[in-house]
Order: sequence, then structure tokens, then C-alpha cells
Amino acid sequence: MAKVWSKRFDNSLNPFIEKFNASILFDSKLILEDLNCSIAHAKMLGKTKVLSSSETVQIINGLENIKVQYLEGKFSPTPPSEDIHYCIEEKLISLIGETGKKLHTGRSRNDQVGTDIRLWLRKEIDNLEILITDLQKAFLNLAKSNIYTLIPGYTHMQRAQPLSLAHHILAYLEMFERDRERFKEVRSRVNTSPLGAAALAGTKIKIDRNFTAAELGFEKIYKNSLDAVSDRDFCIEFVSASALLMSHLSKISEEIILWVTDEFSFAKLTDKCATGSSLMPQKKNPDVPELIRGKTGRVYGHLQALLTMVKGVPLAYNKDFQEDKESLFDTVETVSSCVKAMTILVDEGIEFNIKNLSDSVENDFSNATDLADYLVGKQIPFRTAYQVVGEIVKYCIERKVLLKNLKIDEFKKFHPDFEEDVFVDLEPFNVVKSRTSEGGTGFTQVEKEVNNWQKKLLL
Ligand code: ARG
Repeated sequence: MAKVWSKRFDNSLNPFIEKFNASILFDSKLILEDLNCSIAHAKMLGKTKVLSSSETVQIINGLENIKVQYLEGKFSPTPPSEDIHYCIEEKLISLIGETGKKLHTGRSRNDQVGTDIRLWLRKEIDNLEILITDLQKAFLNLAKSNIYTLIPGYTHMQRAQPLSLAHHILAYLEMFERDRERFKEVRSRVNTSPLGAAALAGTKIKIDRNFTAAELGFEKIYKNSLDAVSDRDFCIEFVSASALLMSHLSKISEEIILWVTDEFSFAKLTDKCATGSSLMPQKKNPDVPELIRGKTGRVYGHLQALLTMVKGVPLAYNKDFQEDKESLFDTVETVSSCVKAMTILVDEGIEFNIKNLSDSVENDFSNATDLADYLVGKQIPFRTAYQVVGEIVKYCIERKVLLKNLKIDEFKKFHPDFEEDVFVDLEPFNVVKSRTSEGGTGFTQVEKEVNNWQKKLLL
């Protein structure tokens, strides 16, 4: 097939370079957006009388026809077309003849590709927002049924203080909410039309940029034609927001992987989301959270790739930008599938071992802070109380007993203000219940937050 520029060149492209240069094998994903972009452009050219009304109708019908053929599986974009934009233009010309050659009036592939990616990404952000809401609902359901389930809380992976399991789960709901907000903010910048910037400088053809923007549902248009065709910030912002979402998914994945070990035994995987080993018959492997944790690296990699792609690229369009697509497409695919997999895992793939969870908070020193706070309640300065309790913990460890196993007389040896009621404060349930500060793990606080989320997610 002759290239559109063949009249200007004496020789044809080296076949390897032809493939090297092409993007059709991946940008065919943008076919519907490219068709819609062209339909809007043709309508606009009709409105401004650059095209006659019969030419406009012919072009639009031709493009609609291609759309139907594609949706019915009768047409698929393939080489030797260089990219999706040439592919559609070539197909249109083959369908309607000479008039098809008028479609590209007053535009360039530079503003065209920018428009297509934004339309595609806007749609994908909307899908992702639904997936994140489903994920949040799954987490909320788990929280709702575990307000009074206790779980050890850790800092430095050392037992710190007991928590309501719901509180632990709601922490992720907060993270996912920030992720959702970030995508929303990115969407508002994605929703800006570069169409009409043409190659880089605008055009002398009579166009109406606001018309095409409105046709395609864009909120606003780029004010500067050079910026319009060179901006890939929105791709980077999207991948950056995705990288953060993946970091949250990876964090909970890691926790699930730990929870289902024999060593922790806080939870077990149901058969719906676990796999066996090819060799060891006893195994049940947490492949799903492991894959999510592993795939996080891909998204971080895409972020790095895109940041490096734009670095030092002078104005305006440069072919480097063709490299935006695979990173962006794979990010969307990876993030969407990981959010979905995590939703399924939380909905039906994990069962908490409530007995082990409550036993585990009984058998440690995670109530030591409460012992110090007990003395604070008796007007002892915190730092003094802290040191008294440090001595008591050392005393217990030497004797291989827990705080609750000491006699009141032993407590009194360390400080005379200890009374019998100290044992009530040491109960893990009471420890959790007493954390009534706002945002704390106290049951009343957690109930309040569960209700807030319930209202917010409209369950
Ligand atoms: N396939 C190209 C891309 O994805 C389309 C834009 C090409 N523009 C150009 N001036 N060569 O970036």
C-alpha cells in the first residue's frame, strides 16, 4: 500500500523500519474513539461549510459504516496500515472514494491521537471508578461483620496494641477513597480537548474547536496548540494514581499472605481463590494476593517509563510519544484486573479464624500501654508510669508469664497505686473499647465509621 507521503519520497521504507515505526498492533484499541473523533471533526467541517452537506453526510455515513463493520467483527485494523488513524482514513477512502480524502482537512494525527487517548482514558477512568466502589463495598461488608473481632495491631511488625478487625479493614477503605478522588481529579484534566491544534500551530481552515469539544463531551479545550499536542502529563498523572492504588492493593495482599501462613493462622483461603502445588499435596497457595503484589512492579515500571519518555523532549509532537500507549494500556488492564481480583478475594476468598485472632491478642504484652495509662489515671506522670510498666514487663518475661497472670501484690511492689480493677483494664476487649479518641479503634468509633461508609456507599 502506498504511503500518503509517497509522492514526496523516491524510495519505499525498509520493511523492518516500517514495522518498527508502526503502532497499529497496539493502537487499534483506540478504534471507536478514533471513529468518534473523526465523526465529530466531519460534522464540524460541515457546520463551518468547509465540507458541503452531501460530503459531510457521505463521510459520516462511511465512518458509521466502518463502526458497524467493526462491531460485527467484519473489519479489524491490521498492518500494513501504520496506525489506527491512517487505517480508518484508508478504509474510508476505499468505501466512499475521493470524498474520503477530505476528512483530514484542518487536522493532524497529532491532535487526533491526543483526542483519541483522552476519550479512551476518560472511559476507562469511569470503569475503574465503578470497580473501586465495588472493592470498597466488599471491604465494608467485611468490616461490618467484624467490628468486635480483635486482631493484633503491629508497628515494625512487632505486636503493638490490639485492634478491632473492622478498624484495620476500614483503613483500606480510606486509602481506596483517596485513590478514587485522585482518579476523579485526573479525569477532569483528561477531559480537555486538544482537537483543532492541528500539527502544532493551529490551522487556517475554518474550524470550531468548541463545537468538536462539545460533540465529544470534553469540558474545555487546550488554550495553546503547542501544549495541546505535546501534553502527556495526564497519562503520567493517571499512571501515578494507579501506582498508588497498586501500593495499597499490594499492602493488603502482603497482609493476607501473612495472615494465611501457619505461623499467623489469622485467616484461611477458600478453595475459590487458592491454588494447589504441583508437588506438595498439603499446599494451598495465595496466588491471587501474590500476583497483585507482583503486578504492582509493572505499574511502577510504567510510571518510570512515561516520566522518562517525556523528559527532555522539545516542543511539539515527537515520535517518542507513540510510546505512551502500551504503558497506559497495560496500566489500565493491570489495575482493573487487580481491583477486580481483590474484590473477589475479599468477597469469597478469605475466611477469618476468629478463635485464633482472639487467642492471639490474649497472649502478648499489647496491653502494656493500658497498664501505663492506668497509672496516668491515678495522676502519675506518663513517663514515670511508662518506666514502671517497663520493669513489670521485664519481670514477666523473666518468669515467662503475662501481665494478667500477676497477683495484685506483685503489681503493688512496682507501684502502690495499683488496685484490683487493673485487671479489667488489661482485658484485650476493654483495651480496644477504651480507644475512644476520634479516628481510634474504640468500638463506638468504629461503629460510627461503618455507618458513615454505609451511607456513603449507599448499601
Ligand atoms: N501513531 C502516532 C502516535 O501514536 C500518531 C501520531 C503520529 N504523528 C506524527 N507526526 N508522526 O503517536
